[in-house]
Amino acid sequence: MNKEKMGHGQASGKIILMGEHSVVYGEPAIAFPFQETYISTKVEPDTAMVLDCDYFCGDLSEAPPQLKSLKEVIKQTLSALQQENKTFKLTISSTIPAERGMGSSAAAAVSIVRALFDYFDTPCTQEVLLPLVNRAEKIAHGNPSGIDAAATSGNESLFFIKGQPLESFPLNVSNAFLIVADTGIKGQTRAAVRDVAHLFEQNKRSISQHIKELGHLTKLAKQAILTDDAYSLGKIMNQAHVQLKVLTVSNDQLDQLVITARENGALGAKLTGGGRGGCMIALADSKEHAVKIAAALESAGAKATWIQSLGVKN
Ligand code: PMV
Repeated sequence: MNKEKMGHGQASGKIILMGEHSVVYGEPAIAFPFQETYISTKVEPDTAMVLDCDYFCGDLSEAPPQLKSLKEVIKQTLSALQQENKTFKLTISSTIPAERGMGSSAAAAVSIVRALFDYFDTPCTQEVLLPLVNRAEKIAHGNPSGIDAAATSGNESLFFIKGQPLESFPLNVSNAFLIVADTGIKGQTRAAVRDVAHLFEQNKRSISQHIKELGHLTKLAKQAILTDDAYSLGKIMNQAHVQLKVLTVSNDQLDQLVITARENGALGAKLTGGGRGGCMIALADSKEHAVKIAAALESAGAKATWIQSLGVKN
């Protein structure tokens, strides 16, 4: 055991601007790393395998079922590193609210893989990282598209299509600001993805049209961004929320915050991520409007809000 050695790994939260759920069916999505929130993992020598995080502190073998995907990513990473019999303490600290559509489970897995590779002095490429994280995501989410792993591990916005090489994408819209608001309710990504799959099986023709429409709206959103058209982007976000409601992945709290944002001058608003709780996003045409919308969302029950500029940073 290397007594001096420590390993560190970090990953950010992520926001899906457009294309959640339809991305699982091969349609494109736009997402970006949300660096306001992040997760870090530290690895240090220990005589037992110990995990210390918000949900549990103790021997890894006794971690609760909700941490099954993290246990799996630790096991798979040690196997990839051919270090199966090593013991150490993993300490995970996070500012990403869990189960809010911000990709916390993928970000936790990314930071663990990076920390373990760092601990064993092995470079961690995206080619090695993403399959390990997606395996953990399969346990956490059932049928992940891979967008969370890609967005939480990178530094750039992505135009993402499942199974295709990552395409980074300049997400710059002059003077535009995105407000992210947390309903304070745990999202239910796994159940929502499963229920959309059931809906799809029951009514393939109609549901596939809604999924295609979400894909089409994502392509229009890309166009609006590339032409620096915040007003069109806002309208497209509103239309996407309607489609996501049809897929049954919104809920009353998300709908109420979306309405509140629009009533307070947002150019558009929609849920983000898995839905049924978690977060919504709204687009504003100035910092001043963004601050007003964020305050209105908090008065309407949002538990936390963040504001991010979408314009080129000077
Ligand atoms: O709720 P989150 O942050 O895990 O986002 C899930 C995004 C989905 O499109 C609903 C599922 C997926 O794997 O792409």
